[in-house]
Amino acid sequence: MQGNPAVVDRYGIIGYPVSHSRSPVIHRLFALQTNQNLQYELIEVAPGKLDTVVRQFQRTGGKGLNITLPYKSEVIDLVDHLSERAQNAGAINTLIFRKNEIFGDNTDGIGLMRDLLVNLGLKLADVSILILGAGGATRGIVGPLLDAKPKSITIANRTMSKARVLAEHFSTSGPVTACQFREVRPSSSYDLVINATSAGVKGEVPSYPESAITDRTFCYDLSYGINPTPFCDWAVKKGATRSVMGWGMLVEQAAESFHLWRGIMPDTRSVLKQIAVTA
Ligand code: ATR
Repeated sequence: MQGNPAVVDRYGIIGYPVSHSRSPVIHRLFALQTNQNLQYELIEVAPGKLDTVVRQFQRTGGKGLNITLPYKSEVIDLVDHLSERAQNAGAINTLIFRKNEIFGDNTDGIGLMRDLLVNLGLKLADVSILILGAGGATRGIVGPLLDAKPKSITIANRTMSKARVLAEHFSTSGPVTACQFREVRPSSSYDLVINATSAGVKGEVPSYPESAITDRTFCYDLSYGINPTPFCDWAVKKGATRSVMGWGMLVEQAAESFHLWRGIMPDTRSVLKQIAVTA
């Protein structure tokens, strides 16, 4: 896989803003570990410039890109081939440049599933799952979660209409229903509660539904930070059995992108230990 050692294969992450991204560190650690000769840059792309920047990266020999907010959906228009999982998610987080074509894929869902099932050792068959939020992040994870055959998935959102649209979209694939935060019933105790809202990132603390949490509820926040996220803090205070931030998902989705680009699966455990702080 090493190719000509004089030529460094170029990768990067596109977003706006993007300076906070940990992806360069993660991919450099993967490259070191697997002895791959590559570079990985942060590429901040101002609104309206996505097309130009992606095409230029392709023209100048770039091999692959990660795509983060706010471009995960917009970038779909630029690809020649879209994977089934990217199509289901309605979003791309990984571009692969091969010959003159652009392939779009999405590794977020598989990243979450590897973290839940492998790193954290959860069993998802026949469990009740509550997802908070009904935006792009939720759309990306419902399909992969359904593949694990849970008893039910409830999507709760501040804006009911968005939760309903997603639940209807996925209801042909499994038991998915929608409700508002305040409609989450105390009787329906959840085994797993996933925060997929962007509230914490924006420094907001919504009135998450307290009745969702019991002492057997595992809480997972797709967001992550050096300190526990507001959701993780809240879940611990409400008595959740465990509350975990999405560092593992971040590293696992990166590993899957790395595998798509380089054909080698890096060891994620050691990298997760180096970068993660769990609540
Ligand atoms: P992403 O792609 O990160 O999911 P998004 O598509 O903008 O971003 O969706 C953000 C989600 O977070 C939405 O479900 C949003 O709720 P609304 O649909 O009601 O807007 C949710 N969210 C953001 N801030 C929130 C807050 N302060 N309280 C509750 N929900 C919030």
